[in-house]
Amino acid sequence: MSFPQLRMRRLRKTESIRALVRENYVDVGDFVYPLFVVEGKGIRDEIKSMPDIFHFSVDRLVREIEELSELHVPAVILFGVVNEKDEVGSGAYRAKGIVQQAIHKIKKASPGMLVITDVCLCEYTSHGHCGVVSDGYVDNDRTLPLLAKMALSHVEAGADIVAPSDMMDGRVSVIREAMDANGFSTIPILAYSAKYASGFYGPFREAAGSAPQFGDRKSYQMDPANSREALREIEQDILEGADIVMVKPALSYLDVIRLARDKYNYPLAAYNVSGEYAMVKAAAKMGWVDERRVTLEILNSIKRAGADIILTYHAKQVARWMMEQDK
Ligand code: PBG
Repeated sequence: MSFPQLRMRRLRKTESIRALVRENYVDVGDFVYPLFVVEGKGIRDEIKSMPDIFHFSVDRLVREIEELSELHVPAVILFGVVNEKDEVGSGAYRAKGIVQQAIHKIKKASPGMLVITDVCLCEYTSHGHCGVVSDGYVDNDRTLPLLAKMALSHVEAGADIVAPSDMMDGRVSVIREAMDANGFSTIPILAYSAKYASGFYGPFREAAGSAPQFGDRKSYQMDPANSREALREIEQDILEGADIVMVKPALSYLDVIRLARDKYNYPLAAYNVSGEYAMVKAAAKMGWVDERRVTLEILNSIKRAGADIILTYHAKQVARWMMEQDK
């Protein structure tokens, strides 16, 4: 059948027909909301390059978590911002570290909120790299035990899921081993498997104070030109014991999300990163795009590409829009 018998527009005539044949949905239940935790008290400061996203001190987190629960956002991912840093990122695996304190506080106030933690040294090292540096090169194997220690300190504090984002080879297996050996065999690993060396992390690095002090991250994060390599990274993480795999960033890598979806039967996450958020915010502020429309369009594209889980700074905003719509 073809035109004029076939008319594609028949199924677009009204919102109820469009809803009936809709293939994908943006669902707040799939969102993970990133939170930046800082030292000090009474702090809730907006991050300049990320409008509506704040730095929170531990004491101010509870209110934010309550708000997220009211909005039915099921999960958060925590990032720590510290004042004192050293060569080996000691602040990352201290029992009383900033993220460890935040986990305690959140799980006590809202046990139902899923707490995911980012496992990476860059926010804690004086040089800003994701691992220990030897002779100007990020030393893979010296970094691994520190990542294992960091993950362990998070689950000891009560984290529900750990998410290594460092891109060292072999990190998933050392983290799995360390958790299993210490009674945490039920804690899943969400691996940032295909993480690219991206310019879209700019606002995050400002927010987390984690920009590398020399060089860049290209010796460990992936080359944006590659997609077959992403599948090898994902395969490796699955072999090492990852429970959920991730592609990051999301928007310029929708093809990679689709490839991963088609190839692996593992839950797949996508990180709609800070630069992607900032671009929407900036253009909306200028009146050049409609924030609600483009945000939902972007999130739909990530779902359509095949992601099950979306880490997004827009989580709260979208949840509010959906609530308004339901009224
Ligand atoms: C830590 C980490 C980064 C992001 C998440 N975890 C920054 C980086 O790799 O430099 C970026 C998140 C974002 O841009 O929203 N390694």
